[in-house]
Amino acid sequence: MTNDQGLKKYEHWSLTQDEDNILWLLFDRKDSSTNSLNEATIRELDDILNNLANTSAKAVIIRSAKKTGFIVGADISQFKTLKTAEEATALIRQGQAVFDKLAALPITTIAVIEGFCLGGGLELALACRYRLAEDSTKTKLGLPEVKLGIHPGWGGTVRLPALVGPLKAMDIILTGRNLSAKTAKKLGVVDEALPKRVIEKAAREYANRKERRKSSFSTNQLLETLPARLALGKVFKRQLDQKISEKHYPSPYRVVDNWVKYDTKHKVAMEQEAISIGKLLVSDTARNLVRVFFLQDQLKNLAKASDFKPKHVHVIGAGVMGGDIAAWCALRGMTVTLQDQAPKLIGNAIKRANELATKQLKEKYLIEAMMDRLQPDPKGYGIPHADVIIEAITEKLTAKQGLFSELEKQAKPDAILATNTSTIPLEEIGSVLKDPNRLVGIHFFNPVAKMPLVEVVHAPNTHKQFIDKAMAFVKKIDKLPLPVKSSPGFLVNRILMPYMLEAVTLLEEGISGPAIDKAAVDYGMPMGPIELADTVGLDICLAAIQELSGVLGAKVPAKLQEYVARGELGRKTGKGFYTYKNGKVVKPKTTATVSEDISNRLILRLLNESVACLREGIVENADLLDAGCIFGIGFPPFRGGPIHYIHSQAQGNENVIDLLQTFKTRYGDRFTPDQGWASGKLQEGASSGQ
Ligand code: NAI
Repeated sequence: MTNDQGLKKYEHWSLTQDEDNILWLLFDRKDSSTNSLNEATIRELDDILNNLANTSAKAVIIRSAKKTGFIVGADISQFKTLKTAEEATALIRQGQAVFDKLAALPITTIAVIEGFCLGGGLELALACRYRLAEDSTKTKLGLPEVKLGIHPGWGGTVRLPALVGPLKAMDIILTGRNLSAKTAKKLGVVDEALPKRVIEKAAREYANRKERRKSSFSTNQLLETLPARLALGKVFKRQLDQKISEKHYPSPYRVVDNWVKYDTKHKVAMEQEAISIGKLLVSDTARNLVRVFFLQDQLKNLAKASDFKPKHVHVIGAGVMGGDIAAWCALRGMTVTLQDQAPKLIGNAIKRANELATKQLKEKYLIEAMMDRLQPDPKGYGIPHADVIIEAITEKLTAKQGLFSELEKQAKPDAILATNTSTIPLEEIGSVLKDPNRLVGIHFFNPVAKMPLVEVVHAPNTHKQFIDKAMAFVKKIDKLPLPVKSSPGFLVNRILMPYMLEAVTLLEEGISGPAIDKAAVDYGMPMGPIELADTVGLDICLAAIQELSGVLGAKVPAKLQEYVARGELGRKTGKGFYTYKNGKVVKPKTTATVSEDISNRLILRLLNESVACLREGIVENADLLDAGCIFGIGFPPFRGGPIHYIHSQAQGNENVIDLLQTFKTRYGDRFTPDQGWASGKLQEGASSGQ
């Protein structure tokens, strides 16, 4: 089939030629709301490029026909079917060959980038001679592959250092961070960052340019000598070591190795890129990180049951949590009214919100717009207008009950009434309402801006309509909503607590804090439990343990009570288990090799509690449990979540149950395997393995 200009028609791409003899190649992946690259779309692109080899047109401009952006990257779902490294490498080579063909076209090639341009999308753009990006908050460019345990594979690790030099390129590839159009222009990743209204005109102008892009780096050439590469490679690896471990996250280390060995010498470097990513694609780390990527999608999809479009959020309580929840909602575009009985605390919260705005938004007009959306409201005038009302006052049942019976009278009948309580059962707070089943929990974690997860708590009879609306609201403010049953500690704190208690028990036995923390970090936790307790606040930990000691059958550790009684509450008071100087922890160095027993004790408690929560149906299935632990606790993503980890052990459950039995004999009844191990629920709830 051909179109008006006699050009062949395609399924995912359309090619037209205009009166200026310019070809416009629009990408519009069939059956998908976003453009991602898979075998079919790449094969078609290959076909198009073959047909363009002898074109008489002066240029080809590649652009997206979708509103959702340029190209979000490779279609990750196709990674799941890969069985061997050789098969993966072969697939990668096909893509590389197509992008090489694009780079070798005899005519000018231009990528017009609006919206997301990530991974394979940016690699496609890098194979073009010029890149023009729309200067808008929606435009995001980056090579985020390391976040999936792999690295760029369609020439990104070769073309980007060749274009902008190794220092800038490694920063972009090794962190996987997104760049705005302006930053991308500053770094030389794109040629222009332009407003939408002029981008097409600019593309036409570039189409008429004859000269090739000038090579802009002379210092970079010095950095490309072998001795310089060897020295720089060490620096890059040292920087990586400060954030991650090579054992857990090898992919960025492979990028450095390949660059040090092969520089950007095209053919050999491309081949090494393909071989290296082939191995990574079938590694456990990548498989688990891809699984985590899909778990995020699962949580987001759960929020689609309601088409609720909240605009106004009213927050009551401007303390640690309420203040930060209000700021986050304003950052994400909501109109927010913030109420507190102490106006001074509203002032403090607004100040913190301003800091968040400055850090996240950078542009003055955006900061001002966000701060305009956040309104101090000591008298609660916002209540009757709000679509969502979040209570985050002091953790006292009577205070919360008094507040909610007032709120019920004033709020719109369809507004969400939500509590941020960490410990009080929803049923108790809701008991004073005319319609107790209207109340939901929207449980944020501290620090609000950093924690991706929010638990959406429901009691047995909570109206589904309000749960669905709460889920939709959480997604709307770009957090991951996890539906959980109202039960002490919900999911995240309940699972975290036995792990924290075991850490304090180890301390009481005389094991040093740094040794305990090292054991957890070696396992892959983002921070050790002793430092975490200090960071959360020992008073808050103590209150949570007191609340959960019943359900966990645990004693409140004397050591923790002693610290709290002395007013040594952790980071916020400058002293807790550790001391703090200018907010930074002063940790005695530990050189001792940490015994495996320590990490086993910590992690077994966490795994056993996970099984208990699954048995009790705190969340609906194993995938949701894994997601909650990864995004709420920081359980190592490369291990795929606690239940997935249990199933991935050599002999699966048996292996972990045996260890629990051994530890029960050695350390006590707290290691008794939960009934859930035997109940079959664990097998039924086996994670999807996605
Ligand atoms: P906070 O003590 O920092 O703030 C509470 C605020 O509520 C204070 O500013 C106080 O003036 C105000 N307040 C008290 N009664 C009020 C009333 N009747 N009307 C208006 N304002 C009132 O407490 P925080 O830590 O922010 O906790 C708030 C809620 O969030 C609690 O339910 C807590 O369990 C929960 N939460 C706390 C977390 C944390 O790490 N701090 C984490 C997750 C939830």
